[in-house]
Amino acid sequence: MSRMTMPLRAALTAWFGLSVGAAAAAEPTAERPVRPLVIDLKIDRSAEIPPPQTHYMGRAIAQTMHYTGAPWLVRESRQREEDCRMLLEALALKPGQTVCDLGCGNGFYTLELARQVGPEGTVYAVDIQPEMLRLLVARARQAKLFNIRPVLGTVIDPRLPVGEVDLVFCVDVYHEFSHPEQMLTRIRKSLRPTGQIVLAEFRGEDLAVPIKPLHKMTKAQVRRELEPNGFTLQRDFDQLPWQHLMFFGLTDE
Ligand SMILES: C[S@@+](CC[C@H](N)C(=O)[O-])C[C@H]1O[C@@H](n2cnc3c(N)ncnc32)[C@H](O)[C@@H]1O
Repeated sequence: MSRMTMPLRAALTAWFGLSVGAAAAAEPTAERPVRPLVIDLKIDRSAEIPPPQTHYMGRAIAQTMHYTGAPWLVRESRQREEDCRMLLEALALKPGQTVCDLGCGNGFYTLELARQVGPEGTVYAVDIQPEMLRLLVARARQAKLFNIRPVLGTVIDPRLPVGEVDLVFCVDVYHEFSHPEQMLTRIRKSLRPTGQIVLAEFRGEDLAVPIKPLHKMTKAQVRRELEPNGFTLQRDFDQLPWQHLMFFGLTDE
């Protein structure tokens, strides 16, 4: 089921590949041998997962986008609708950083993140649907990007290393978390002291954004949910056509 309102759905036709940033593909070298692009599937199946929440802090939680909808994520119109280049530039990534594309889908943004952090950096590509991760791996192999670590997460745990991540990037994902508090707790633990979580969410305040309300969020709602979970808003980037881009750091304890 599409999350867009009708008129724009008709315009979505072709598969799309971005090319942002000039960093070279992270080709293997003698010093930096190939890291096989193998999906880490070792989730702890004994961990008890509470029933999914339907609401959080007054907001209805959206259903997970099914992997059969993946072509929508690489639609031709995405650059125009999201200004993906500007969005990526706003992240101001640096070579060598460790970032996570959380809820990476088929890797539309993952490949660009991998180019920007370069061969010395790492991108954890996390999703709860192995099918999405397989699509991502196929695209990463074709692009010859070897600094991506695809990880199968669970709805309560993105399975990230503790205290190592510079940036957790969530595009059009947070509003789908069925267990927001558990996810935010794990994300907090994964970040370095200076690390950030960045949310890109379609603007709930803006009726002109042709996305169903369930898949949008207001700034006030994002803050209402993240601040009690140990995050402080550090920066808002307000120039994207349809989305908020909100940068949160760890709240001092
Ligand atoms: C709308 S798609 C966005 C994909 C990608 N971020 C993009 O912008 O192209 C949302 C993705 O988030 C994933 N997702 C939902 N809840 C998740 C969770 N708790 N942990 C990891 N991934 C999750 C879904 O499986 C789906 O692939």
